[in-house]
Amino acid sequence: MRYRRLGKTGLRVSVIGLGTWQFGGEWGKQFTQSEVDRLMGRAQEMGINFIDTAECYGDHLSEQMIGRAIRGQRDKWIIATKFGHQFVRNFERVDRWSSDEVLAQLEDSLKALGTETIDLYQFHSGNDQAFNQDALWTMLDKQRQAGKIRFLGISISSKSENLYQVQQATRVGASVIQLVYNRLDRGPEQRVLPACQAQDLGVLARVPLASGLLSGKYRPGTEFTQTDDMRSLQDRAEVQRRLQLVQEIAQQEVPPGVPMAVWALAWCLQHPAVTCVIPGCKTIEQVEMNASAAELVPPDHPQAVE
Ligand SMILES: NC(=O)c1ccc[n+]([C@@H]2O[C@H](COP(=O)([O-])OP(=O)(O)OC[C@H]3O[C@@H](n4cnc5c(N)ncnc54)[C@H](OP(=O)(O)O)[C@@H]3O)[C@@H](O)[C@H]2O)c1
Repeated sequence: MRYRRLGKTGLRVSVIGLGTWQFGGEWGKQFTQSEVDRLMGRAQEMGINFIDTAECYGDHLSEQMIGRAIRGQRDKWIIATKFGHQFVRNFERVDRWSSDEVLAQLEDSLKALGTETIDLYQFHSGNDQAFNQDALWTMLDKQRQAGKIRFLGISISSKSENLYQVQQATRVGASVIQLVYNRLDRGPEQRVLPACQAQDLGVLARVPLASGLLSGKYRPGTEFTQTDDMRSLQDRAEVQRRLQLVQEIAQQEVPPGVPMAVWALAWCLQHPAVTCVIPGCKTIEQVEMNASAAELVPPDHPQAVE
């Protein structure tokens, strides 16, 4: 594994993290606790020390499973979770952005994770109206002073570029940005990633496999029909357009003998602003393959640490 400094937090994170939306059950699979235990145990053995979850991957369900899996080994993990929504049922959430509502979510997340402090607490892809609340950031700062949160982050929405929230990060006390970045979605390269570098923010690249499309196992013509898989809700024509692109990339850019998923993760990590990728994983084999992408990552990165 390789490690990098997560921007001005100074946290030492593995370049490959673990995304856990999947544990909430919206990816065509329900997880048992023992599956999560084994998956996280293997991730730890492979040197992964960073995990990303959220309040609404199930109703604090992903957090609960993580909390049980790390019992007795809290110090081995850097835990990132998020705030801003109440999970209702699969694919349905209600916004909860007031400072009182977020404070209640924080208590629920601490309880679910079985921890006294959250390492990184992220604004979960809200709009600018939700973001522009001084009372919210003041409350979060108080919780940080009380030790319930170590650092704040902003997970910007994928629907717009959201340069504004990135530019405001330091002002609201956030030191990490989470954004969609992968070989198919390169928008942040223009303005958002330079704005992160200018403020020394840590950068978490989410959806690094383009929701699995860059995994190498899906060909043009593939349709996601399983109704409990979030990909069944995506625009079908757009999925086909992206799969066509993936096929061209596989032929033109992926070196022979390198699995496409491994290549796609290492591709994201080449960017000097990107600290870490957080691929979502459903099996131990996927965790192992994703962790092995660290071997393709050159050691000379501006955030590299021993
Ligand atoms: N707004 C936000 O803050 C937000 C939004 C989205 C995601 N996230 C976070 O970012 C994480 C990553 O994004 P994501 O999970 O949406 O997308 P992703 O990482 O691009 O894709 C994950 C999917 O790719 C497939 N996969 C993973 N590793 C593989 C491998 N080695 N070989 C083959 N297939 C593989 C798996 O699905 P199949 O096996 O079924 O293909 C897996 O469910 C999430 O888990 C979550 O923690 C945050």
